[in-house]
Amino acid sequence: MKHDPIVELLDESRIGQEIVVCGWIRTFRNDTFIALNDGSTIKNLQLVIDREHFSDDVRKRLTTGAAISAKGELVASQGKGQTTEVKVTELEIHGDADPEEFPIQMKRHTMEFLREKAHLRFRTSTFSAVFRIRHGMTYAVHKYFHENGFYNVHTPIITGSDAEGAGEMFRVTTLDLNDVPKTEDGKIDVKQDFFGKEANLTVSGQLEAELAAMALGKVYTFGPTFRAENSNTSRHLAEFWMIEPEVAFADIVDNMDLAEDFMQYVVKYALDNYADDLEFLDQKERNDEKSKPQNERNELSLIERLKFVAENNFERITYTEAIDILRNSKPFKKKKFKFPVEWGIDLQSEHERFLVEKHFKKPVIITDYPASIKAFYMRQNDDGKTVAAMDILVPGIGEIIGGSQREERLDILMEKCKEFDIPEEHVWWYLDLRKFGSAKHAGFGLGFERLIMFVTGMTNIRDVIPFPRTPMNAEF
Ligand code: 4AD
Ligand code: MG
Repeated sequence: MKHDPIVELLDESRIGQEIVVCGWIRTFRNDTFIALNDGSTIKNLQLVIDREHFSDDVRKRLTTGAAISAKGELVASQGKGQTTEVKVTELEIHGDADPEEFPIQMKRHTMEFLREKAHLRFRTSTFSAVFRIRHGMTYAVHKYFHENGFYNVHTPIITGSDAEGAGEMFRVTTLDLNDVPKTEDGKIDVKQDFFGKEANLTVSGQLEAELAAMALGKVYTFGPTFRAENSNTSRHLAEFWMIEPEVAFADIVDNMDLAEDFMQYVVKYALDNYADDLEFLDQKERNDEKSKPQNERNELSLIERLKFVAENNFERITYTEAIDILRNSKPFKKKKFKFPVEWGIDLQSEHERFLVEKHFKKPVIITDYPASIKAFYMRQNDDGKTVAAMDILVPGIGEIIGGSQREERLDILMEKCKEFDIPEEHVWWYLDLRKFGSAKHAGFGLGFERLIMFVTGMTNIRDVIPFPRTPMNAEF
């Protein structure tokens, strides 16, 4: 059915035209005014239903959630809050939504409630705003890389390697789990499985992206990744999307510059192109915060925070400096941190939050972590203790980016594989890269959902992906 997107009809320039609109009813007031939404904008279009024209029976069916189409003239609106409205002459109800049963009514629903109704939560202003922005961010990511000479490579989703070495992988198999074939020594006979070897869902496309970068120069992957980490937090998903650029002849400083420029570009893209949705989410955050104690509220509003990030340099410190700052901090001295702080520890969320939210009050890039807490592929620094790693932390979220310069020296990498118990036959191809035309290179991974949390101000990662996958939850 040919029809006009509402986003185009809110503008005065179309006044006087005969138009057709399709959408879902948000509200029907005074037996006369329909607020119609079609997803093209956060704003609703007002339809005016003349009582003479439409029977009681029809008007009764104009309930929240019903799908309708309408024809009429676009006129200047008398009411406040909108410039245009439609004088409806023809109306068709495509699908009723029984108010006794339709769960998304025009009242405040909790995020928890809406998660259980994830199939219908797109119909709310909040989620339609979030998913429009999510789309915009996908586009901005591809646009940025395309404009900067990167090639998009599709790395495999099924893989035999554990890039991060954290052992958090989902197994892929076609074996009959009720009757698993065994070898003589009682182990699973993987030779009889689909691939003739163990296979998993990928935790990262990095290792394959490196192969491509060492020929195409600058590449990036943007795909789904899977982690079977049993952490039920507001920042972890079992299935999430990751953006991983990889650049040949780049070192850790080039990598930081790229990450910062890229983050600023996509945040600016949201500000420039999703102003209405951000305005709505900004207001929502302020309303939600009214019920929170002062010290849990954001000092800056959502839009102020985004502008701040788009316009200010990120702080850059080493892990060693971060530990010093933490050990000299008030919460450390007053024993307020739950976890210990000493050189060698993995920074906990409370430490990261202190650094970005209290100490620096801006995004922070931490580099040169102890080798023992980072992945095998990170380049060893001359001190022999640290690696050329970099994490980017942002207020409200913590780690949003993890990356590094890669170990390009074959002998050191082989040594690392031994230390990390990575069998050479699993990574022979990755090692080959260091045999033939090896060069320094670097890259990083940005968790796409964490970026969407940051841009929308949503505080739970389950609310920025349409259908979240978390422990004990794979509904829809
Ligand atoms: O720090 P991570 O584990 O780094 C890598 O996977 C590297 N291979 C990236 C690279 O250098 N190419 O993950 C990168 C980012 C994290 O900073 C975080 O934003 C996100 O991925 N992330 C998750 N997001 C949601 N749920 C999870 N379970 C996540 N685990 C990591
Ligand atoms: Mg990380």
